[in-house]
Amino acid sequence: LLGVGTVGAAVARRLLAGGEPLARRVGRPLLLRHVLVRDPARRRSFQIPSSILRTDVGVILNDDETSIVVELIGGVDDARRLTFDAVRAGKDVVTANKALLAVHGREIFAAARSAGRCVTFEGAVAGGIPLIEAIRRGLAANRIDAVYGILNGTCNYILTRMIDNGASYAHALGEAQRLGYAEADPTTDVSGLDAAHKLAILASLAMGRCCDLDRIAVKGISDIDLIDLTAAAELGLVCKLLAIARRHGGDISLAVEPRFIPRSHPLAAVSGPFNAVSVYGDLIGHCLFYGPGAGGDATASAVLADILDVASGNAAKTFAAEGVLWDQTPAATYAPAGEDASPHYIRVGLVDRPGGIAQIATILGNAGISIASIIQHESPYQQASDPVPVVVTTHPARQRDVRAAVTRFGELKEVLGAPVCIPVLEKLGPGGGK
Ligand code: NDP
Ligand code: HSE
Repeated sequence: LLGVGTVGAAVARRLLAGGEPLARRVGRPLLLRHVLVRDPARRRSFQIPSSILRTDVGVILNDDETSIVVELIGGVDDARRLTFDAVRAGKDVVTANKALLAVHGREIFAAARSAGRCVTFEGAVAGGIPLIEAIRRGLAANRIDAVYGILNGTCNYILTRMIDNGASYAHALGEAQRLGYAEADPTTDVSGLDAAHKLAILASLAMGRCCDLDRIAVKGISDIDLIDLTAAAELGLVCKLLAIARRHGGDISLAVEPRFIPRSHPLAAVSGPFNAVSVYGDLIGHCLFYGPGAGGDATASAVLADILDVASGNAAKTFAAEGVLWDQTPAATYAPAGEDASPHYIRVGLVDRPGGIAQIATILGNAGISIASIIQHESPYQQASDPVPVVVTTHPARQRDVRAAVTRFGELKEVLGAPVCIPVLEKLGPGGGK
């Protein structure tokens, strides 16, 4: 086991305490022989027996009795080097490292294949939900047309705490860190990059094409304002960071972005660190996967399932036979961005004098965008110099047309500050609600 942080400690705890029931699952004993740490003297939430603590990975890789290396150190550079070293040393690798697989998955799978080893990664996407297993096996006969996921527990936790409890963004993020949901650098979570790592993996697997991380349009939640969450609540909308992959004929579109969702929608009810992923297959139709998306024990559940799969010999057979991992599939081709139509939520700060709303309505009207509602709540304490927040919702309109119109709002002298524009997801579906 490489790394005993949040997830590594939970994996070690179960392996050291619950060995017998696990061994029965695979018909052979499972022994945690080595645990790699940087500082053996460090006090941890779960103390590892000093007899198995190592600081030299060579001891692990040169041990012929060790057949599985579980990489839980996170990050990319050391993890990549250790993973390569492990497969070349004849070890199978279990990892929950989505950053590693989103960036270097292709070469890692190829290296494992040429060494006759396997790499498994159930914990890398959607925490404890057995989603990778479901896509690879349970839904194997389907052509998957769309995937919509809440894939980052930290962001979902922050958004839930802000809207349900009025917590500040900074306070909610601090809680998510203390609870073990956030990445070592939580910017990865709130910027949307962690969800993008997971989407690159999920989309590559689901669509049967190697999807490039750089082709995902990524927007996170760090700019989300409580004003918008509250205004949207008044409209019956809830904000979620969604990761979306859709097939458009032979092309694929990929995006991670905040979306407002009607409160009646199944994804709107997903709160706290939970994840949910809607998968659309041509045979099965709509399948919704739901469960804890972050945290030590939940992720350990997925990592341990992988360890059992490798120990039983199943993972190696699947890895060798399947041909669905992205070292063996063609590169994706991409649909142009911003072509999808959806309703939009727009908030703009207007100078409080006649004609401001008319200017906005004219820009939208000239762009062929139909207004669904306009709300202006003026505070009794409003000062003449304060901007008045005006919230506009639109009927479905092409995303790039709405963005262009909102950019023009910013050029009006009646508009103060940067307007906010967030698409609204009406319905899920392979056609994005069409
Ligand atoms: P943590 O930061 O809690 O733990 C990582 C551990 O690895 C730390 O104890 C760190 O040691 C150790 N480490 C880092 N580099 C090295 C190294 N070169 N050699 C030895 N030890 C090293 O991370 P998590 O447990 O949260 O995450 C682990 C992996 O699982 C990541 O890839 C993450 O993205 C993924 N993951 C995490 C989930 C979660 O909910 N936390 C969910 C799903 C996946 P030190 O204490 O010395 O810094
Ligand atoms: N930081 C990640 C999250 C951990 O919050 O979802 C699970 O991958």
